[in-house]
Amino acid sequence: MIQDIEKLIRTRKSIRTYNSIDIEPAVKQQVIDFMMSNSVGIFGNKVEFYWIDGDSDEFKDIKLGTYGVISGTKSFITGKIADSDKNFEDFGYCLEKLILYCTELNIGTCWMGGTYNKTAFSDSVDLKEGEIIPAVTPVGYFGTKKSTIDKMFRCFAGSDNRKPFDELFYSQSFSGNLTEEEKLTYSFFLEMVRLAPSASNKQPWRVLLVNNVFHFYLKRTPNYNKFMQSDLQRVDMGIGISHFDFALSEKNVEHTWMVENPGLKTDDLTEYIASCRIINFQTD
Ligand SMILES: Cc1cc2nc3c(=O)[nH]c(=O)nc-3n(C[C@H](O)[C@H](O)[C@H](O)COP(=O)(O)O)c2cc1C
Repeated sequence: MIQDIEKLIRTRKSIRTYNSIDIEPAVKQQVIDFMMSNSVGIFGNKVEFYWIDGDSDEFKDIKLGTYGVISGTKSFITGKIADSDKNFEDFGYCLEKLILYCTELNIGTCWMGGTYNKTAFSDSVDLKEGEIIPAVTPVGYFGTKKSTIDKMFRCFAGSDNRKPFDELFYSQSFSGNLTEEEKLTYSFFLEMVRLAPSASNKQPWRVLLVNNVFHFYLKRTPNYNKFMQSDLQRVDMGIGISHFDFALSEKNVEHTWMVENPGLKTDDLTEYIASCRIINFQTD
């Protein structure tokens, strides 16, 4: 169970500098139990998760490099998915759930879709044809002082800023913003989406409210991911969707997810992903 979702979402930050204190075996086991029982996304895809201790005997011959981006830990969580519809979104959903659980346990994490040695991680999970590792995360306790590379990353990605609310969330069409009344009801849940992490902090989520349905769209960053096997912006969508879903569930707002493109007009960079219908809005 993850509790106090708002606090966890606001607390989580990408941690690239760790101290070298090992995570206690019992805490590690708690995370492993959680990842084994929370491995299916809302679109039905299963993620096969792995906890990899880079300095254990099992992995001592594999160099789990991160190009110097991560310091102070050799432990990672990763997962593989099959090549199927909405697989990247479900990966984003499931790994973010796990990351928020780690946040609850004071374990630091950092989504990484680019800065890790793909071959080494593929070997460590015995990746087969047709399987994909979209991302990995280090796990460990926070270091006290950020490394220079860590500071550089945050600065280049503008990690401490998010786009304004009205640039991400719309009502009726992509030219209208939410009314004051709609904001009063829904801004908390949309704010949870806005605070989500995304690859290079590009924040590709666009959400359009029509009646009681929130349509989630992906606004692609031109030429982003073009040369990668993984579609990281679809992973971002899964992360944003997860925050919305967890916040609604925690407040007992009855809702359901579906993939039914409403066929609304979008620009060329924007594609439909999924919709969330609010069935009964009665928060605690
Ligand atoms: C799918 C995904 C891939 C990412 N890939 C990397 C990466 O390869 N290396 C890295 O240092 N950070 C990576 N990040 C972290 C983002 O840069 C970070 O989430 C963003 O700048 C916002 O900062 P915050 O996580 O501290 O809120 C990734 C994030 C996501 C969601």
